Amino acid sequence: MAVYLATIIVIIIIALELAKSSPLSSISLSAEVKALLNSGWWGNNYSRNYCEFANITCNEAGSVIQIDLSYEFLKNKKLEDLNWSSLPNLERLDFRRSDLTGGIPDEIGTLSNLTYLNLSCNNIVGDLPLTLGNLTKLAHLSISNNHISGSIPIGIGNLKSLVVLDISNNNFTGPIPSSIGHLTNLTYLWLCSNQLIGSIPTELGNLLNLVDMNMGFNSLTGSIPLSIGHLTNLAYLRLCSNQLSGSIPIGIGNLRSLVVLDISNNNFTGPIPPCIGYLTNLTSLYLHSNQFSGSIPQEIGSLVNLVEMNMGLNKLHGPIPLEIGHFTYLTLLDLSHNLLKGQIPSSLCQLKELNSLNLSANQINGAIPPKLGDLPMLGYLDLSSNKLSGEILTIKSNYTIQYLDLSQNQLSGPLPNDLEKQSYLMHLGLSSNCLSGTIPSGLAYYPRLVYLNLSHNDLSGEIPSSLRSFQLGRSIDLSYNALDGQIPHRPQNACPNKKKNIVMLTLVISLPITVLLASLGFVLFSQSKAKKNQSVARVVNSGDMCSIWNYDGKIAYEDIIMATNDFDNRYCIGTGGYGSIYKAQLPSGKVFALKKLHGFEAEDPTIDRSFRNEVQMLTNIRHRNIVKLYGFCLHKRCMFLVYEYMERGSLFCALRIDTEAIELGWTLRVNIVKAIAHALSYLHHDCIPPVVHRDISSKNILLNSELDAFVSDFGIARLLHLNSSNRTVIAGTYGYIAPEHAFSMVVTEKSDAYSFGVVALETMMGRHPGELLSSLASQSATNIMLTDVLDPRLPPPTNPVVVGDIAFVVTVAFACVGSEPRSRPTMQHVSQQFLSRRKTLATPLRAISLLQVSTP
Ligand SMILES: *[C@@H]1O[C@H](CO)[C@@H](O)[C@H](O)[C@H]1NC(C)=O
Ligand SMILES: *[C@@H]1O[C@H](CO)[C@@H](O)[C@H](O)[C@H]1NC(C)=O
Ligand SMILES: *[C@@H]1O[C@H](CO)[C@@H](O)[C@H](O)[C@H]1NC(C)=O
Ligand SMILES: *[C@@H]1O[C@H](CO)[C@@H](O)[C@H](O)[C@H]1NC(C)=O
Ligand SMILES: *[C@@H]1O[C@H](CO)[C@@H](O)[C@H](O)[C@H]1NC(C)=O
Ligand SMILES: *[C@@H]1O[C@H](CO)[C@@H](O)[C@H](O)[C@H]1NC(C)=O
Ligand SMILES: *[C@@H]1O[C@H](CO)[C@@H](O)[C@H](O)[C@H]1NC(C)=O
Ligand SMILES: *[C@@H]1O[C@H](CO)[C@@H](O)[C@H](O)[C@H]1NC(C)=O
Ligand SMILES: *[C@@H]1O[C@H](CO)[C@@H](O)[C@H](O)[C@H]1NC(C)=O
Ligand SMILES: *[C@@H]1O[C@H](CO)[C@@H](O)[C@H](O)[C@H]1NC(C)=O
Ligand SMILES: *[C@@H]1O[C@H](CO)[C@@H](O)[C@H](O)[C@H]1NC(C)=O
Ligand SMILES: *[C@@H]1O[C@H](CO)[C@@H](O)[C@H](O)[C@H]1NC(C)=O
Repeated sequence: MAVYLATIIVIIIIALELAKSSPLSSISLSAEVKALLNSGWWGNNYSRNYCEFANITCNEAGSVIQIDLSYEFLKNKKLEDLNWSSLPNLERLDFRRSDLTGGIPDEIGTLSNLTYLNLSCNNIVGDLPLTLGNLTKLAHLSISNNHISGSIPIGIGNLKSLVVLDISNNNFTGPIPSSIGHLTNLTYLWLCSNQLIGSIPTELGNLLNLVDMNMGFNSLTGSIPLSIGHLTNLAYLRLCSNQLSGSIPIGIGNLRSLVVLDISNNNFTGPIPPCIGYLTNLTSLYLHSNQFSGSIPQEIGSLVNLVEMNMGLNKLHGPIPLEIGHFTYLTLLDLSHNLLKGQIPSSLCQLKELNSLNLSANQINGAIPPKLGDLPMLGYLDLSSNKLSGEILTIKSNYTIQYLDLSQNQLSGPLPNDLEKQSYLMHLGLSSNCLSGTIPSGLAYYPRLVYLNLSHNDLSGEIPSSLRSFQLGRSIDLSYNALDGQIPHRPQNACPNKKKNIVMLTLVISLPITVLLASLGFVLFSQSKAKKNQSVARVVNSGDMCSIWNYDGKIAYEDIIMATNDFDNRYCIGTGGYGSIYKAQLPSGKVFALKKLHGFEAEDPTIDRSFRNEVQMLTNIRHRNIVKLYGFCLHKRCMFLVYEYMERGSLFCALRIDTEAIELGWTLRVNIVKAIAHALSYLHHDCIPPVVHRDISSKNILLNSELDAFVSDFGIARLLHLNSSNRTVIAGTYGYIAPEHAFSMVVTEKSDAYSFGVVALETMMGRHPGELLSSLASQSATNIMLTDVLDPRLPPPTNPVVVGDIAFVVTVAFACVGSEPRSRPTMQHVSQQFLSRRKTLATPLRAISLLQVSTP
């Protein structure tokens, strides 16, 4: 009886609670409560006013009108969990990036007041329900980035209020229904990255408000409908990567608002119509990979706002129009793989913003305009496979060029000998020309150079000793020249265990005079790449993690997204070994650096592993000279790390920019070396198990506003389990990897010690010590004085304490770069020496020789 009474009392209390919160129409409201509570998404607390549930908004009548669970992690939750028929007043549903699974239930069609539905970036499967056609008030429909399949229902044409329709990146098949032509309020129509077939319905010409239309990456056929000429508000038109054919309709000249026109990777034919010259607001014009013929119309010269123009891989002939020189904002010009003739117009030398110029595989003749080498932003220059003659151009810009290919022309004369300053050069292709003279010795010291091809020329003289040091993962071909000189001896057991992962250049000696440097390295390199591609197929989803927030608990995912405007390019401050680095200033004023993986990188298991490795390492490491990780997000569509922001960038850059190098005086440089030593000592000796960084290089040492140094980039760091073999594949930065790594894969702290030695020398010398190290190895350098190798941009140190410090740093550095790992000091020893010593040096600087400091 007592139990019975108690139950009644409880029921009354609940009823009173409900009555309090829902003064009106309690019957329908209780259906709403039931729907919410039965979903299990908000726990099971019957005593709470559901209008106060997190992420729910009610109208004045107490009825749910909005559910916003965007960016919430609703793993394993499905839209089917909610009884949508019980929530008839819903106006807004936002579930973007919330990890929903399951399908879209038919009951969604009962939400007749719905104006906004965003299900983007989830794992939703199945077909679109036909009932969707009932949502006649829907203005925004985003279901992009899911796995939704089936065809687009014809009923979509009923959604007359639609302004935004985005179904991109799904698995839709079948044709585009012509009923979309009824959606006359549409401004944004994205159907890209599906498997749509058939032609573009001519009815789309009715969508006069359309601003952005993207149908790229489908399997559409047929031609562009003439009606497209009506869409005078269109700013973005992307139809790339389909199988569209026919010629560009003349009506395209009406689309004066166009900013981006991308119809690349199709099967379009015919000429480029001169009326394209009317589209003066265009910034991007992509016509590449089609079958366009005829000559490039001169009218193109009116497109003075162009930033990127790609017409490569077509059948265009005739000359390159001089008018291209008017495009003052142009950064990319690709006319490769056409049938273009005549000379390179010298007007191209006016394109001060030009970063990438590709004219390869044409029939261009004459000389390369010498001023082309003055272009300050030039990064990629490909003029290969033409009929160019005369001399190689001299690149004047400092440090910008990364890719230079002039192979397969008729160029003559010597190799330019001032390429040394091009420290970003990765690819140098000069093969199959008539180049003569000798190979300048600086050529091998590009720290990033991975491809060097000088074959099939008429070069003579000695192969510079610099090219003889071991080359890791690099492809070098010097064959078919008249070079001579010794090929360096290598230890006999250079390839002891033939482990497939060792990437190494093997030198092959051929005829006594002609020396053939066959690039076996390249072959191995390609093999290892092929292996990588295979493993892509076995990607396993290792679960998502997101934890931003050990900085006062004040950073939230949304703050990051807002601070970078969803990783807008404006906030990008650089690219690392992988991913891009962004600067994010939170409303609090605090600035962070973010490293975000590009989508394609997140799919790459090696990069994905490095990224997760970095999180694992850095969350467990705390040291004042190691960059701080404040949080991370490992969601498969958006992977990023949040770091302490380092105002002054990398040591590498600081040493290469003259003004910054001068600011880095001797004391600061010594302190930088000390900081690295302390950080490494901590990693090797204070962490349990010890951590080997494995990629110490000047690029991975960052400087804050006070020019204090911090070790960063733990992507390939490894925990050293003392009783395991610690064998691993080669990784690291060329020029900093300990030599024993060419022959064995055992990882020890001594490999970091070697890299530390290189960075320490680099810091003192202001440049990479590669040349010095190889000349020291060949006996010739015994009488080099210490002052001769110190950075010449700084005045020589005079303070005896500083002189003593420098001599000590250089001595330690030489001990660290010794080829025998066992003879290298431990970082703990180095760190302690730095802490304890404070001696002045009696010998004046000018009297110290390298021999003295390099033999302990
Ligand atoms: C239920 O909600 C009330 C009021 O919001 C709260 O005081 C109580 O702790 C909650 N109970 C549970 C089990 O969450
Ligand atoms: C949802 O509610 C939680 C808890 O109150 C809150 O932290 C989060 O910001 C809300 N999400 C949205 C998108 O409003
Ligand atoms: C969903 O709600 C409607 C209306 O409130 C109700 O008729 C129906 O029985 C509910 N369905 C389920 C499965 O609870
Ligand atoms: C929809 O909105 C209208 C106007 O705001 C309102 O009168 C109506 O009650 C709402 N609910 C349904 C189910 O139509
Ligand atoms: C919703 O759409 C379905 C299928 O198109 C239709 O059968 C049904 O009558 C519609 N319901 C309402 C309330 O309009
Ligand atoms: C829906 O969410 C996606 C992902 O955040 C966003 O890019 C898109 O702009 C949203 N759509 C609308 C209509 O707001
Ligand atoms: C897309 O559909 C095809 C078959 O229609 C299927 O093989 C494929 O797995 C689907 N892809 C996704 C991501 O759902
Ligand atoms: C289309 O947009 C106009 C202007 O915003 C608006 O007045 C009209 O109601 C909209 N049409 C529909 C069907 O929503
Ligand atoms: C071209 O761009 C300018 C500046 O953005 C703008 O004012 C103008 O309206 C645009 N012209 C057309 C036809 O859209
Ligand atoms: C492209 O067009 C050419 C000529 O019109 C035709 O021969 C070829 O089959 C087409 N290719 C594709 C992939 O449609
Ligand atoms: C230049 O274009 C050719 C052919 O279109 C391509 O193979 C090459 O990779 C391009 N060069 C650069 C630097 O992008
Ligand atoms: C390149 O550097 C030199 C000195 O290092 C400087 O005089 C010259 O102005 C720089 N050139 C450019 C284009 O920045």
